[in-house]
Amino acid sequence: MFRKNQTQSSSDPRELIVEREPKSPISEMFRTIRTNITYSSVDTSVKSVLFTSATPDAGKSTIAANMAIAYAQAGNKTILVDADLRRPTTHYTFEMPNQRGLSTSIVNEVPMESIIRESETENLDVVTSGPVPPNPAELLSSKKMGHFLKTVSQQYDMVILDSPPILAVTDAQLLSKEADGTILVTDTEANNRDSLAQAKDLLEKADANILGVVLNNKKMDNKKDSYYYYYGSE
Ligand SMILES: Nc1ncnc2c1ncn2[C@@H]1O[C@H](COP(=O)(O)OP(=O)(O)OP(=O)(O)O)[C@@H](O)[C@H]1O
Ligand SMILES: [Mg+2]
Repeated sequence: MFRKNQTQSSSDPRELIVEREPKSPISEMFRTIRTNITYSSVDTSVKSVLFTSATPDAGKSTIAANMAIAYAQAGNKTILVDADLRRPTTHYTFEMPNQRGLSTSIVNEVPMESIIRESETENLDVVTSGPVPPNPAELLSSKKMGHFLKTVSQQYDMVILDSPPILAVTDAQLLSKEADGTILVTDTEANNRDSLAQAKDLLEKADANILGVVLNNKKMDNKKDSYYYYYGSE
């Protein structure tokens, strides 16, 4: 039902199970994560969440896209931003063009409205990455990016950011400073305590507000659904 097969390539869409099968146990897990995020900060409400991982291929983009749908389904005006300017996939998942997107709006004076696209899910807008630039970290730490995030935070109830793995490049660390909260996604199969600890270290150095870890079970047999757990960071 939600399985990775051998021939899957990076340009295949990530499974939007929360859209396709909202009543399934997996979709319920996403709603549980949503609830946990809501209650993770008592004093301030979390209105932007960054999804990252220690190492590549953990399932960040899949989880970020499904979480965005879970928020939208609950009536929150939501925007999913593909801030992975290295291996972006959101345009494949939502079958959107990607000539314009986050990178073009930062580099050129493209108005924000022209890069925000409506998705087929009610309440969910999407910003694709735009063409991959040579200097993603520079773009993500620019004033224009800061301005973009501030503006969307004001216009939306929830901003979901997809990003590259944190041990590989500095991008997610830079973005975690701007987001209200950060979630570490880890593939239960490749799960490695050392790399997770290193990722946590880097996020703490950036003063990120780590909300928790999502364990993504990508190992599939044909009879079982994959599943997700969530637990707080403390
Ligand atoms: N729970 C799951 N069950 C089955 N397949 C999954 C699951 N989660 C992710 N996948 C598949 O694993 C691959 C990697 O997932 P995804 O692109 O979401 O990871 P990522 O962390 O964003 O990768 P990258 O580091 O390249 O950005 C994709 O082909 C996706 O469809
Ligand atoms: Mg990704």
